[in-house]
Amino acid sequence: MKLLEIQSSVRQEGSVSRTLASKFIHAWRSHQIDVKQILRDVGANPPKLPTAAWVVANYTPPQARTQEMRDELAESEMLIEELATAERIVLGVPMYNFSVPTNLKAYIDNVVRVDRTFSFDRSTGMFGSLLTGKKALIISSRAGGYAPGTPTAAIDFCEPYLRFILNFIGIEDVEYIEVPNQFGSSEERQQATETALERLMELAQTW
Ligand SMILES: Cc1cc2nc3c(=O)[nH]c(=O)nc-3n(C[C@H](O)[C@H](O)[C@H](O)COP(=O)(O)O)c2cc1C
Repeated sequence: MKLLEIQSSVRQEGSVSRTLASKFIHAWRSHQIDVKQILRDVGANPPKLPTAAWVVANYTPPQARTQEMRDELAESEMLIEELATAERIVLGVPMYNFSVPTNLKAYIDNVVRVDRTFSFDRSTGMFGSLLTGKKALIISSRAGGYAPGTPTAAIDFCEPYLRFILNFIGIEDVEYIEVPNQFGSSEERQQATETALERLMELAQTW
């Protein structure tokens, strides 16, 4: 079983998403026989942003790419390979400005690529997904609270975007655990963190 852990908080010290992901992974691994775990820390080391040269290389058919174009796409190809061969994916994702951290968006731009992780049929205008058989867990810390049914639910662009983009490339089994109120009182923060941890420990038994 290959587990890919993607961390996107720019913080190491005191990061709630990193701490809860570690606790979940530790508990989950105790139920697994053989796990190969890989950490992709885009919070600490964001992938290169796409450039004009990258775009040209991306839309050039693989057999027609020059060495320079292949070099341009090398990091993206490595990230896609890493994702494509993982069966379980844990994402630590703080909410930044109501959406995902820039570093994670840079990762997404590198791995969501036509004919690599999704397909596009020009004759029908239909998209297809090229990844299969994976489960993802998103642990999303945030200062406020955006739970379904609350007035602020509509301004959480993090959850709907991540669910959509993972589905788009074929990752349909997605668990999303919100860790709200991180700027609340210490009691509010502690309670929100404990509630999320309880859900994670329960999930670790069956995921
Ligand atoms: C650049 C930046 C933007 C943020 N934007 C939001 C936001 O829009 N809504 C929110 O509730 N919290 C926001 N926060 C707070 C973080 O989501 C919160 O501190 C979270 O716990 C960070 O995750 P971490 O502890 O894993 O680093 C923001 C934090 C940063 C650094």
